[in-house]
Amino acid sequence: MSRETIPLTELKLPAFGAWEPGWFLLTAGEKGAGNFNSMTVSWGAMGVIWHRPFVMVVVRPQRYTRQFMERHNTFSLCAFDDQYRPALEKLGRQSGRDTAKMAECGLTPIELSLIPTPGFAEAKLILECRKMYFDDLEPAHFLADFIAPNYQGDYHRMYFGEVLAAAGTPEYRR
Ligand SMILES: Cc1cc2nc3c(=O)[nH]c(=O)nc-3n(C[C@H](O)[C@H](O)[C@H](O)COP(=O)(O)O)c2cc1C
Repeated sequence: MSRETIPLTELKLPAFGAWEPGWFLLTAGEKGAGNFNSMTVSWGAMGVIWHRPFVMVVVRPQRYTRQFMERHNTFSLCAFDDQYRPALEKLGRQSGRDTAKMAECGLTPIELSLIPTPGFAEAKLILECRKMYFDDLEPAHFLADFIAPNYQGDYHRMYFGEVLAAAGTPEYRR
């Protein structure tokens, strides 16, 4: 996929649709077999905080990717064309803890410019992120009755990552 660097002030993507029905691939760790892991995510947000562009992803405790999110300071977030939906299905249904999904998914890890975490050659958008804040969802703070049924004690950890760089196809540039 041919991507160009996109200044963050010119990055354009649908605020909600990029997450659902669009999906992202969250990758944490460092390039090298077994040193990183990816999972599909569709809950999250992007915006500005502390004068920095950021993405927030939410990761349940049982995800294998969570261990990599904890151990490493950086992560990448990639978006793909529909033709890679089966790969994202696999990465979002199987765990890297007990399968070889990273090797089997057909995506090609590539080095990124600013962080040791890989992106993927097939991605149409790659965001390079550095963790800057985390917190666990607090069930005592749930204000709507539709939230609790999503959990069996496995409350998401939110990670705020400063977006250091974006590279994408022209559709992502305003
Ligand atoms: C469309 C889709 C969206 C998902 N979004 C999230 C999410 O935002 N947070 C999360 O913790 N799990 C999410 N998941 C589940 C993980 O991707 C899934 O459990 C994955 O197998 C975890 O892989 P791992 O154990 O290798 O980290 C999603 C799955 C799918 C299919």
